[in-house]
Amino acid sequence: STIENGNFEWSAPSNIALVKYWGKKDNQIPANPSVSFTLNNCKTITKLAFSKKENQGSFSFDLLFEGKPKEDFKPKIKKFLERVEVYLPFLKDYHFTIDTQNTFPHSSGIASSASGMAALAMNFMSLERKLNPEMTEDYFYQKASFLARLGSGSACRSVKGNVVVWGNQANIQGSTDLFGVEFPYTIHENFKNYQDTILLVDKGEKQVSSTVGHDLMHNHPYAERRFAQAHENLDKLIAIFENGNLDEFIKVVESEALTLHAMMMTSMPYFILMKPNTLEIINAIWKFRQETQIPVCFTLDAGANVHVLYPENVSEKVLQFIQDKLVVFCQNSQYICDKIGHGAIAL
Ligand code: PMV
Repeated sequence: STIENGNFEWSAPSNIALVKYWGKKDNQIPANPSVSFTLNNCKTITKLAFSKKENQGSFSFDLLFEGKPKEDFKPKIKKFLERVEVYLPFLKDYHFTIDTQNTFPHSSGIASSASGMAALAMNFMSLERKLNPEMTEDYFYQKASFLARLGSGSACRSVKGNVVVWGNQANIQGSTDLFGVEFPYTIHENFKNYQDTILLVDKGEKQVSSTVGHDLMHNHPYAERRFAQAHENLDKLIAIFENGNLDEFIKVVESEALTLHAMMMTSMPYFILMKPNTLEIINAIWKFRQETQIPVCFTLDAGANVHVLYPENVSEKVLQFIQDKLVVFCQNSQYICDKIGHGAIAL
């Protein structure tokens, strides 16, 4: 290749699943389809500098986190580069400097793997496009999502906005196990600017990684029924996105969150990632919803933090409720206001 050196910079957001990905086959193929809201404020910003090498046998890289060398993140990136090398044969010709930072606090319990792997994948696709300028925009984004998937499954849903499906579902045109696609049908205006306030319940390292959790779905007594249920819930969401029925939306989303954690509690070995304050928050949300009829609900990812989801037109009332009733359950009273967003951006 003929490009000697240069650099790119991308931001990529986190995402929150409504139908959860939990369980996978070889090569990061999901056991069931999932769908997520792309977020707007929780992002990783990654700069990739590249320069042609003398000895071009294998890739090499330095890693900076917030501008400073960070050795402990290197193995994860190295593993990612090894996995994607076969799809990016030019990697071995270059030395890379990867400089990355998050807009959300480090070790806040908000996983940066989705946004981080997506931002990295976008940068490598920019280099591929530089070497190979005739690729289409669709190819660029699909392959970026495909590469991100190999870094962290859920990362493939962080390339595009606003609602992204990953995994083959018969009645969603274009859906595939290989990369995330934008939800291709009508989305009711009730979901426009949908809000996600992330309550930071526990900022510690989680005791069981998602890699181990996915693995425990092999030989799990409820696995097959669960995978079928994900298809059913995705079906329900197709209708809900069209008709805007928030009561039905809440049922699907909260059931998905609790089912994810039920899978953890019923695997062998079993484990619990929720904390007492996670349950306090869930109960307070149910009480508030009962009393006010305001369509606010929760979801969880693989941790103790709670994502509070609600439409934009009730945000003032819900934020007041969060201040009054939920902040006491957050570590150091911390929460992050986010909302549905548009995907990765070149900077
Ligand atoms: O992308 P991974 O392998 O870290 O898995 C994430 C799985 C959940 O966040 C629990 C659910 C999801 O679909 O994002």
